[in-house]
Amino acid sequence: MRAMFDRIAGFYDVMNSVMTAGLHHRWRERAADLAAVTPGSRALDVATGTGDLAVELARRVTPGGEVVGSDFSEGMLERARRKSAAVRWEQANALALPYPDDGFDAATVGFGARNFSDLEQGLREMARVVRPGGRVVVLEITTPTKPPLSTFFSLWFDRIVPLLGRVTGEEQAYSYLPSSVKRFPGPRELGAVMHGVGLHDVRWVLTAGGIIALHSGTVS
Ligand SMILES: C[S@@+](CC[C@H](N)C(=O)[O-])C[C@H]1O[C@@H](n2cnc3c(N)ncnc32)[C@H](O)[C@@H]1O
Repeated sequence: MRAMFDRIAGFYDVMNSVMTAGLHHRWRERAADLAAVTPGSRALDVATGTGDLAVELARRVTPGGEVVGSDFSEGMLERARRKSAAVRWEQANALALPYPDDGFDAATVGFGARNFSDLEQGLREMARVVRPGGRVVVLEITTPTKPPLSTFFSLWFDRIVPLLGRVTGEEQAYSYLPSSVKRFPGPRELGAVMHGVGLHDVRWVLTAGGIIALHSGTVS
C-alpha cells in the first residue's frame, strides 16, 4: 500500500483535479471548517498525502497555531513539503500515531480512512490524540444509492477511473480506488464506528450529489 502511494505521488494532484473537476479543493475547505480550529489551535491531518487539507487547516490556525501533516508515504510527503513550510510534515503510521494523548484541538483525514487496514484503530488513534471537546473529521468518497447519481458513479468509477489509471501507467492504483470505495462503510455505518471509538455528537453531511461524505464528531 505504501509503495503504491509512493509511486502515484507525482501525478496524484493532477489526477484529483481531473477526476473531480477541481471540486476536491472545496470539499477540503468544508472539512477544515468542520474541524472548528481558530488562530492558535493545534491540528493534525493524518494520511495527509500531498497535504492539501493540512495546508487548508494551517490557514485557519495562523497566527500562533500549529498543523502537523502525517503520512506513511515519503513520496507523498515529499510533494507536501514543496507546498508549504507552514505545516510540520512527518512520516507516521495512522494506526499507531507517535503523538501523546489530548495534544491536538482537532484531527482530520481526507480520502485516507478508506485506506486504513483497520478503520476502527485509525479512528481510535485520531480520537486519542485530540483533547476532550476537540473534533475528529473524516472526508471520504461514499457510494450514492439513488439514481441518476448511482448510475453515473458506477460508470465513472468502474469504467473511466480505471481507464485514466491505464493512461498514467498505474492501472493497479486506479482500479484499487473504486474497490476501496465500495468496501468502505456507508455514512450511517461510518457514523456508528466513530461513535464506537468514543466520539459524541457524530454528524455527517453528504455533498456532490451524495458522492462525498463529511463526518465529524467531538472527543468525549
Ligand atoms: C488517497 S490519499 C489521500 C491524501 C490526502 N489526505 C488528500 O486529501 O488528498 C491516501 C493517503 O493515505 C496514506 N495512508 C494510507 N494508510 C495509511 C496509514 N496507515 N498511515 C499513514 N498514512 C496512510 C497514503 O500514503 C496516502 O497518502
